[in-house]
Amino acid sequence: MRIRIANGAGSLLPRTSTGKEIGLDAHPFIERIRSREAVIGVIGLGYVGLPLAMEFAKAGFKVLGFDTDQGKADALNRGKSYIHHISSDGIRALVDGGLLEATGDFSRSGEPDALLICVPTPLTAHHEPDLSYIESTGKSIAPHLRPGQLIVLESTTYPGTTEEVLRPALETGGAICGEDFLLAYSPEREDPGNAVFSTAKIPKVVGGCDENALDAADALYSEIVVSTVRVSSARAAEAVKLLENIFRSVNIALVNELKLIYTKMGIDVWEVIEAAKTKPFGFMPFYPGPGLGGHCIPIDPFYLTWKAREYGIATRFIELAGEVNTAMPEYVVSCLMNALNEHGKALNGARVLLLGVAYKADVDDTRESPGLTLIDLMQSRGAAVDYNDPFVPELSPSRKFDFKLRSVELTAAGLAEYDCVLIATAHTSYDIEFIVEHAQLVLDTRNATKNVTRYRERIYKA
Ligand SMILES: NC(=O)c1ccc[n+]([C@@H]2O[C@H](COP(=O)([O-])OP(=O)(O)OC[C@H]3O[C@@H](n4cnc5c(N)ncnc54)[C@H](O)[C@@H]3O)[C@@H](O)[C@H]2O)c1
Repeated sequence: MRIRIANGAGSLLPRTSTGKEIGLDAHPFIERIRSREAVIGVIGLGYVGLPLAMEFAKAGFKVLGFDTDQGKADALNRGKSYIHHISSDGIRALVDGGLLEATGDFSRSGEPDALLICVPTPLTAHHEPDLSYIESTGKSIAPHLRPGQLIVLESTTYPGTTEEVLRPALETGGAICGEDFLLAYSPEREDPGNAVFSTAKIPKVVGGCDENALDAADALYSEIVVSTVRVSSARAAEAVKLLENIFRSVNIALVNELKLIYTKMGIDVWEVIEAAKTKPFGFMPFYPGPGLGGHCIPIDPFYLTWKAREYGIATRFIELAGEVNTAMPEYVVSCLMNALNEHGKALNGARVLLLGVAYKADVDDTRESPGLTLIDLMQSRGAAVDYNDPFVPELSPSRKFDFKLRSVELTAAGLAEYDCVLIATAHTSYDIEFIVEHAQLVLDTRNATKNVTRYRERIYKA
């Protein structure tokens, strides 16, 4: 029989009725965490993994980062950042202090006491979860696992992935989960570019494959974040992350739909949201836009859609939100055509300048960005499109789009040459008054022009 006895530190260690401990004892790991002897490994040094690695290094842990992109590992070892909102100075200080090192050599994955996995979880071309990065990471680590290591998956995914996909991959080397290594899930809530809520200030949800893994993961993250939130299982922790992102997707779809209705009724949806958010309870503002972007909100909800099929359940809310949100770029282009038409122009042959190709303000991330879809839609209708983005100097061909464009400068004379300037993402560095003053027409998808008082007749909203 398994019973749980709470020890002095408040942790629960499973024991038999005779007091014998069951499974791998997390205490030696926890001791090494508290004494800072533990080495922390972070696998996947992107938007999520790099800030996480830096946070552990700043807290005094020796951190070993792993990435299949040797270029990223080399850049970090030279103290160079490849993410706009992360400064090279911060990285250099940690590298010079001997706290941060990066490598592409996975045979070193036995060195850290904990390995935190932050690899991509995209969708396949058929809109199904692509867990190949998680699986291949598990298999790369498997031959090097050593007794007592804690493995934590941080990538966003459907409930069950840690147990059903990562665990078998890790066990291919012969080590057994719960006996030889500890396994947990802790979703990443990083909001790139958010100056208020950096990694350390965001509470971290943790769920273990067993109680020892939960204790170990809890102890680990408690050292770097403001608080941890323990849930009963890895599956519950996986479900928490999906709830958060589905909540955003559905609410953004709702305001996008309201935008269509209110615009037809001659009502400004942004004015409505500003007023509604004065309600001190029961309302949370979400804002319409040209469509969803980034690696999370357009993708993660469909991880649940896929898994729900196994249980015979249709995720109607998720799919409806997806439909509404993915229709937004087309809606913006129809608004653009109407605006040009009012000035006796067609989109075919028009010159359009798109401002902000990153998916949100003040970041350099163009993944799933509606700005890219907008360029593609406008080009396919015969428009000559340029773009400006202070964070994205060039657009090169990708799997989805065949662009070869460079960000153009924003000058008074340059702005005046375009038939329309389309604000897709309102970076804070944009001087909106200047843009409106010199543009012939402005199509604003972000309400960026709300405080502009002159030349309002040039401004259209979408
Ligand atoms: N970007 C965000 O805002 C955000 C927020 C919360 C959660 N997430 C989730 O975090 C995960 C990572 O997202 P990201 O934005 O950091 O992605 P990213 O593409 O910026 O970084 C992933 C990194 O992993 C590396 N990589 C790929 N395969 C690897 C492998 N097998 N072994 C080691 N490294 C490998 C890539 O080279 C890249 O550097 C995803 O599941 C994502 O959904 C992202």
